[in-house]
Amino acid sequence: MKNILDNLNSNQNKIVKIILSDSNIDIKKIVVRPIIIKSNIKWQIEKFIGAQVFHANVEYQEILNLPFDSFKQITIEKEGSTTIFSKKKQSYSEKTVNNNIKLDIKAHDKIKNYIIKEGEYIPALVELGIFNKEGKIIKGMNDKFKQINKFIEIIDDAYKTIIQKEITILDFGCGKSYLTFLLYHYFTKIKDIKANIIGYDIKKDVVSNCNKIAQKYGYDGLKFVLSDVKKDELYQGKIDMIVTLHACDTATDFALDFAIKNKVPLIFSVPCCQHEINLSIKKGGDFDILLEDGLIKERFSALLTDSIRAEVLRAKGYSVDIIEFVDFAHSPKNLMIRAKLNSKKKSLDRVTNLVEKYKFSQKLYELQKD
Ligand SMILES: C[S@@+](CC[C@H](N)C(=O)[O-])C[C@H]1O[C@@H](n2cnc3c(N)ncnc32)[C@H](O)[C@@H]1O
Repeated sequence: MKNILDNLNSNQNKIVKIILSDSNIDIKKIVVRPIIIKSNIKWQIEKFIGAQVFHANVEYQEILNLPFDSFKQITIEKEGSTTIFSKKKQSYSEKTVNNNIKLDIKAHDKIKNYIIKEGEYIPALVELGIFNKEGKIIKGMNDKFKQINKFIEIIDDAYKTIIQKEITILDFGCGKSYLTFLLYHYFTKIKDIKANIIGYDIKKDVVSNCNKIAQKYGYDGLKFVLSDVKKDELYQGKIDMIVTLHACDTATDFALDFAIKNKVPLIFSVPCCQHEINLSIKKGGDFDILLEDGLIKERFSALLTDSIRAEVLRAKGYSVDIIEFVDFAHSPKNLMIRAKLNSKKKSLDRVTNLVEKYKFSQKLYELQKD
């Protein structure tokens, strides 16, 4: 122990990160790093207990009271060198290697506080190939991790003020279901709510694989159903939320249509490609300049599609906002339609006028216009 404390206290101002891992207590891991709060250096302690992560910002002296002895490995990363202490029987052996790490202390409000942290062990996400067994994001899955984490953050925002014991959610076009599994983890393990979640997809192999993983990890309330959401009969009980993440083309429209018809109170929908308007729109008025060049026409049509979806939802009693859900670099399809049923209905005339003028087809409008 003394060698660990000595290491911490020498060149303390160069510490980048301290990691305590491989424990024999409830706290599976502790990560400590310096941060800046109101121009002063504090130390942020992250404790990983079960599926949850707890944070505290403390003075340096408090770090020295952490239960180092209960962890078999202590890594002290400093600018220029990393020392690993490994416990064998009662004492720690010590190994130091050089590194190129530069100390970059971030202000507290600049630290990304993901709901699901890298390093958290969620077995289903390991099986799906988002994390490796050490909880690190697998190469190439960073964008997907950012997308699903941000999706959950937005839902978390909506659920801060809602108290319920049970929730039913449908995911349209769930695919490999990274989001669906994370949603289940979030509600059952973090919010402690009984969750019934159904993922729909048209691909037999992905549906069967997702059901196998859900069963393997005892996710009793999570089911995957082989369906074409454009024509098959879907769940008819009370539904609290509809989600879609990149459900192909008009599959998004069928999800929104289903939500409207079933008076689903909350919708979180990130559309995918939008071909319909681009393929059908004709010149007809003031917007003709936007239809001259293929690239602009395609982007304009995509934006018009999502604006019409929002307007149809408003006409059916939803309050709607469209938000950028992740940075463009993590996905070019980065708009989310967030809608909440509140019963105030707007007119659909603005959309009807556009359809009459520019002669395009838009599936949600067609499904809802009567
Ligand atoms: C781009 S993937 C997105 C998958 C997943 N939501 C994600 O973000 O990782 C779109 C998924 O929608 C599914 N899909 C497309 N049309 C569908 C339909 N009519 N009914 C059900 N699923 C559909 C596809 O099979 C595919 O798995």
